[in-house]
Amino acid sequence: MKATKLKGSGGLERLATVDIEEPGTPRAGEILVRLHANSLNYHDYLVAIGKIPTADGLIPLSDGAGIVEGIGEGVRDFAVGDHVVSCFFPEWQDGEAVPSRVATIPGDSTDGYAREKVVRPANWFTHAPKNYSHAEAATLTTAGLTAWRALVTDGPLKAGETVLMLGTGGVSLFALQFAKMMGASTLITSSSDEKLERARALGADHTINYKQYPNWADQVLDRTDGRGVHHVIEVGGPDTLTQSINACRIGGHIAFIGVLTGFSGAIPTVTLLTRHVRLQGLQVGSRQQQIEMIHALDANETKPVIDKRFPLHDLIEAFRYEESGAHFGKICIDV
Ligand SMILES: NC(=O)c1ccc[n+]([C@@H]2O[C@H](COP(=O)([O-])OP(=O)(O)OC[C@H]3O[C@@H](n4cnc5c(N)ncnc54)[C@H](OP(=O)(O)O)[C@@H]3O)[C@@H](O)[C@H]2O)c1
Repeated sequence: MKATKLKGSGGLERLATVDIEEPGTPRAGEILVRLHANSLNYHDYLVAIGKIPTADGLIPLSDGAGIVEGIGEGVRDFAVGDHVVSCFFPEWQDGEAVPSRVATIPGDSTDGYAREKVVRPANWFTHAPKNYSHAEAATLTTAGLTAWRALVTDGPLKAGETVLMLGTGGVSLFALQFAKMMGASTLITSSSDEKLERARALGADHTINYKQYPNWADQVLDRTDGRGVHHVIEVGGPDTLTQSINACRIGGHIAFIGVLTGFSGAIPTVTLLTRHVRLQGLQVGSRQQQIEMIHALDANETKPVIDKRFPLHDLIEAFRYEESGAHFGKICIDV
């Protein structure tokens, strides 16, 4: 069967399609999944270009969705034919994120899902939402769950509160959709007026072009009666954090998620404390949180925004498209 591996050193050119052995029959507690889709995240891109060092020959991609084709002895939660989606931290089933539970990340510290089939412990997957295509389900593992946890688990978001999203990438558009689903008021920034129009069509109440307004926190204050927002989905990192703190209301919450502008930088500590801001770092979430998100999606009409799909053998082209920043929402891979 076909898989994609990262071989040798260099950039995206190290991605190679290879033939690998079929995964065999599932043992007790395991399932065999025929993978049909993946989705791309900035994290997968950092792995692919070698900024996150991994083992030579690693199979990349953390998000995988497909159909159960076989079950091992004792598996009760899944049956042959079920549609499933992978977990970002398969060893973090529930409870606290202790180091041993967050050490295993498919497509990073262990082989991921850029392949046709896989045998894994059944609890490395959850059921996919009803009425979701495989591509739609594959967007949930990383981007969907991060946005869900930031707003719903950690927030915790209440109806009527205000939420600010930075940019129109995968995490931010999920956050926009979850915020609307939960009855919040929303503001979103982008470098593109055309993308802001599309965000309005998705329900954004206020839009701000961050290229036009480099001090966009002032715009946020103008549109929130001078008070600022309750929650910020902070995906930018060091170059955007000061604006995010300035855009927060007193006692607001910043879900610190992203590294789009770099890995370290200065923090205006006095503003942080005088505004009583809660700055919380987070990385994706547990399997239980994924199950809760999927229950919410089953009870609503919300579907992810998929910008473009590529076949697995065009993975390099798909990453180049992600690199260009032209996308609005998710880029998916068909296996
Ligand atoms: N902590 C976690 O668990 C976790 C999980 C998922 C992702 N992340 C991180 O979150 C970030 C976003 O991930 P993603 O997968 O959503 O990425 P993505 O889909 O590739 O989103 C990229 C988008 O971010 C926007 N952007 C870029 N620079 C910006 C800036 N300076 N200010 C505001 N927006 C900016 C752009 O939107 P416009 O084109 O609209 O300007 C761009 O299209 C990445 O750093 C990723 O590593 C973290």
